[in-house]
Amino acid sequence: MAGVPNRTHHVRTSTIYLVEVQRSRRFIPVTISMLALAKTLLFTGSVLLIGAGVFVRFTGPDLWRTSSPALRRRFLIGIALGAVLLFVASGLDIAYTIRNTLGFLDQSMATLYVSDTRHGRAVSLRVILIGATAGAAFVGSRHPNSTVRHLTNVGFAVFATVLLGTFSWISHAATMNGTVPMIADLVHFSAAVSWAGSVIYLASLPVWTENTAPLQTTLLRLSSLGLITVATLFGTGIYAGFLHIQDPDLLMGSPYGRTLIIKVLLVISIVMIATLNRFWLLPALQRHDALHRLGLFLRLESVLLFGVLVATGILSTTAVPHS
Ligand code: HEM
Repeated sequence: MAGVPNRTHHVRTSTIYLVEVQRSRRFIPVTISMLALAKTLLFTGSVLLIGAGVFVRFTGPDLWRTSSPALRRRFLIGIALGAVLLFVASGLDIAYTIRNTLGFLDQSMATLYVSDTRHGRAVSLRVILIGATAGAAFVGSRHPNSTVRHLTNVGFAVFATVLLGTFSWISHAATMNGTVPMIADLVHFSAAVSWAGSVIYLASLPVWTENTAPLQTTLLRLSSLGLITVATLFGTGIYAGFLHIQDPDLLMGSPYGRTLIIKVLLVISIVMIATLNRFWLLPALQRHDALHRLGLFLRLESVLLFGVLVATGILSTTAVPHS
C-alpha cells in the first residue's frame, strides 16, 4: 500500500498508523453485539470440538467403542461444525475488534493486528490448533490396547488445554494482576466445555429407545462429571465475578453485573434439571418413560447451556465495572 510506514512492533504505533489510514479509507460502522455474537460462536465451537473428545474418551467411552457407524457420524459432524465455527468466528472476532476500536478495517491493518498484538497472536495459535485438536480427539480412542488409549488421552488433553488457553490468555481475567485469575479462567473454561460438550453430545445421540449397559454407564459417568464440573464452575465463576465486581451495588447497577445475574440464573435452572435427572429419573431407568424423559430433559439442558454461552459471549465483551 502506498505511503505505509515500516511495520513496527508497537501496537501504539500501529494505532497511529491506522488513524492516518482512516482519513483515506471507507468507514465501516459496527455494533458491539456483533463481537458478542462472534464470542458466542467461538464458545459454541470450542464446546463442540473439545466436547466430542471429552465424550468419546472420558464420559462415554463404552458407548463410543460399541457405537454404530451412524452414531460415529454424529460425532464427526459435531466436530467438523465446531472446527468451522472456531475458524470463522476467529476471523470475525479479529475483524470486529479492529472495527470497534478504530472504526474501520482494512487488510493491511488486519495483518498488522494479527502479528503485533497479543489478541492477534492468540487467535493465530488457536487457528493452527483447531485441526490438531480435532484429530487428537479421535486418534487412538477406540484402540484395543489401553496404554495407547491412555497416551492418546493425554495428547488430546494437552492440545485441548492449549487451545482453551488461547482464550484465557486474552480474557478479562488476563488483565488482572498475577497469573491466578488467568489459570482460574482456564479451569472454568475447561470445566464448561467438558460438561456442556458431554450433555450436548449425549442428548443428540439416537440412544433413547433402549436402556443398554453402555448407556447406563455413560449416564452415571455424566452424573459424576456434572457434580465435579458444576462445583468447579461455581467456585471459579464466583471468583471471576468477585474479581470484577466487589461492590454489591454494581451487580444490578452495571451491564456486566446484570449479564452475570442472568447467566447465574440460567446455570441454576440447569442444575435443578440435572438434580431431577440424578435423583428421580436415573434410579427409575428400567421404565421406558423414564428413559424417554431423561433424553428430553438432557435436550432441554442443552438449550439452556447454549443460553449460558450466549450470556458468556455478552459478558466477555462487556466492559468490566472497574478500572
Ligand atoms: C454459577 C456459575 C458460573 C459463574 C458465576 C460464572 C461466571 C463467569 C465469569 C465472571 C466469567 C468471566 C467473564 C469475563 O470474561 O469477564 C466466566 C467466563 C466463562 N464462563 Fe462462566 N460462570 C458460571 C458457569 C458457567 C457455565 C455453566 C458455563 C458453560 C456451560 C460457563 C462458561 C463460561 C465460558 C465459556 C467463559 C469464558 C472463558 C474465557 O473466555 O476464557 N460458565 N464465567
